[in-house]
Amino acid sequence: MLKRKVAVLVSGGGTNLQALIDRQQAGEIPHGQLTVVISDNPQAYALQRGEKAGLAVAAIPRRQMTPEQFEAELQAILEKYCIEVIVLAGFLSILSADFVRKWPERIINIHPSLIPSFCGKGFYGLRVHQAALDYGVKVTGATVHYVNEIPDGGKILLQKAVAVLPGDTPETLQKRVMEEAEWQLLPQGVEMVCANLSANRTV
Ligand code: GAR
Repeated sequence: MLKRKVAVLVSGGGTNLQALIDRQQAGEIPHGQLTVVISDNPQAYALQRGEKAGLAVAAIPRRQMTPEQFEAELQAILEKYCIEVIVLAGFLSILSADFVRKWPERIINIHPSLIPSFCGKGFYGLRVHQAALDYGVKVTGATVHYVNEIPDGGKILLQKAVAVLPGDTPETLQKRVMEEAEWQLLPQGVEMVCANLSANRTV
């Protein structure tokens, strides 16, 4: 079966990357091939997870360069590995509209809320869960969506709801959203996009 080469972009711990690695090893991403892990932060533990799984890894130290230099390096790595699908898995940099337009319906992101709640610029990581607790919602969740030029604004592919429980802190809520939603949805989303690409293939 034709497998689409997938790049995973990360910034931190990489538990979503780990879920992808584990689900691939379990045979649950038959249309995709995790190929390279790219971090905007050379210290990201996710890079070690990638190495341990035998994937190619690359760090592009974003803080030491302009956004244009960063994206040029990113594009070069993606081309080097013949990447067809890009997965943002806890990747905290915002990609420019110019970059995103080069990859229409080829980039997906996991966001730790039910979009359109608690999303957009400034909503990432624990801040998302803090905002959900501050608002007092009783249900939150996670969303996998295509990435377009609007932060968290692309077409929604998958969502899963997760209960907010009395006494939750941002940390306990983050853990429940990851365990009950993110680690299931992201591998499903990657398989969905890779399978769709294969189904629409004309050659
Ligand atoms: C995850 O909860 C992911 O949904 C979130 O960052 C965390 C990364 O954890 N992403 C965003 O907030 C993007 N706006 P991980 O490095 O352990 O996968």
